[in-house]
Amino acid sequence: MFDSGVGGLTVVSALAQRWPKERVLYLGDQGHVPYGGRPLDEIRSFARGITAMLAAAPVKAVVMACNISSATAWPELAAVYGPTRIFGMVRPGARRAEEASRARRVGVLATAGTVASGAYTAALRDRDPDLTVVEVPCPKLVPLVEAGETNSDDAVAAATEYLAPIEAAGCDVVVLGCTHYPYLLDALNTAAREPVIFIDPAEAVADDIGEALSAAGMFAQQPAGPHRLMTTGDPSVFAHQVPRFLPGDRSPVHGVRWGRSPAPKC
Ligand code: DGL
Repeated sequence: MFDSGVGGLTVVSALAQRWPKERVLYLGDQGHVPYGGRPLDEIRSFARGITAMLAAAPVKAVVMACNISSATAWPELAAVYGPTRIFGMVRPGARRAEEASRARRVGVLATAGTVASGAYTAALRDRDPDLTVVEVPCPKLVPLVEAGETNSDDAVAAATEYLAPIEAAGCDVVVLGCTHYPYLLDALNTAAREPVIFIDPAEAVADDIGEALSAAGMFAQQPAGPHRLMTTGDPSVFAHQVPRFLPGDRSPVHGVRWGRSPAPKC
């Protein structure tokens, strides 16, 4: 799995809860975080490089635990590696949201790049062309999460600002279109003026992975051991962040330079 930073650990959690015997090799590309305001071509090239490195490990599947990577690079990489080996966040998240909306109005909170890609609107409208979709770019949220400020006054103020257009449009379902955002659920629930259903695509992704592993007879039969957590940033900073975002996990943390390091060993 990979993400720009700690956000993808929400997907590690979702996978570990459902399929606790599976072992995750995780890369947080903190040397480049945040991804959200970067050109989409650059995000695509990061995704190609990281996916090649992880696929060579080798692994059973690669999860783009990052919405902007999924939004920009999933179709290309799924064509290269096969759709049951590369999992993205967008289509599973859109599926859950479309199924959950009674009002047929769905909001999407995401980074500027994910919103600019239009991937969520396209995936939601593929399921129902009449769905109203309101996508809101949220540039303040990833820096708050990376700094560990998940329930501060600033987090609630930012959540209030970003939910406003979604609430004004009468959406009853809101997709957390960035893997960092599930850590802000308390702030988002405090900020919401009406009850809304927040969808974390990670749960649908974990289900899809389980289906694919089961169909291929590839489920781990025994616990496969501790995860391997890697960062392209400072490993001592990441090692400090992990217990807050993945409570109880004791997996070792390593520094890595993708493209320059040999493929990591599982
Ligand atoms: N967590 C990532 C996502 O889901 C990227 C966040 C960022 O680095 O801007 O889009």
